[in-house]
Amino acid sequence: MERLQKVIAASGLTSRRKAEELIVAGKVKVNGEVITELGYKVNDNSEIEVDGLKLNKEDKVYYLLNKPRGVVTTTHDDKGRKTVIDFIDDNRRIYPIGRLDYDTTGVLLLTNDGEFANYMMHPKNEIDKVYIAKINGFLLPSDIMALKKGVVIDGVKTDKAKVKVRKIDKQNKTSIVEIIIHEGRNHQVKNMFKTLGYEVLKLKREKIAFLDLKGLNSGEYRPLNPKEIKQLYALTQQKNTR
Ligand code: URA
Repeated sequence: MERLQKVIAASGLTSRRKAEELIVAGKVKVNGEVITELGYKVNDNSEIEVDGLKLNKEDKVYYLLNKPRGVVTTTHDDKGRKTVIDFIDDNRRIYPIGRLDYDTTGVLLLTNDGEFANYMMHPKNEIDKVYIAKINGFLLPSDIMALKKGVVIDGVKTDKAKVKVRKIDKQNKTSIVEIIIHEGRNHQVKNMFKTLGYEVLKLKREKIAFLDLKGLNSGEYRPLNPKEIKQLYALTQQKNTR
């Protein structure tokens, strides 16, 4: 169920504000009945008419982008920087699910399906995200343990993580660390390392659940297929019935 003005705006017909004005003015019908209540809930089967025009519902779309460095994860940037939307050749109102930092690369999902976006981001669903971090120095065993158990950022402890050192570069005194988390707090991975005195020099999201970057060069994207969407929903359902 979605709010009427949101569905009208998502169809691309008008802005959310204009949709609200039309509803209040009695110009909107749902299943043949005039609705003037803002926030009236409709579902996928509701027949919506705006000013005598039947609403074309937008098809739901889902994309996986290999986000390059130097791109903002937003639909519009006031400073005119390139956004992740600029990479997707689709005029529908799609937006990113969650956020990767300007300098972080890798798996980013985009959609116009609000329900799916909420589903993927809700902490209770515990969808794993695999990050590969290049850090300065070498992780002490006690620090690996601390990351695994959770560290305190802004007074709140992070959830358990999986941590594995993939490679160390003795000459340059850097390490490549795989860290798997299911939360999505702001700058979470960088801040987790920072609490222990390490700096993340490079960060890439290698996977979300089973979705990886196979076949996608930096800046390339592909649609998710219906089977993948179903599998993602199934994953979270399994977790929530445990
Ligand atoms: N954690 C970060 O610090 N940055 C990201 O972009 C994603 C996770």
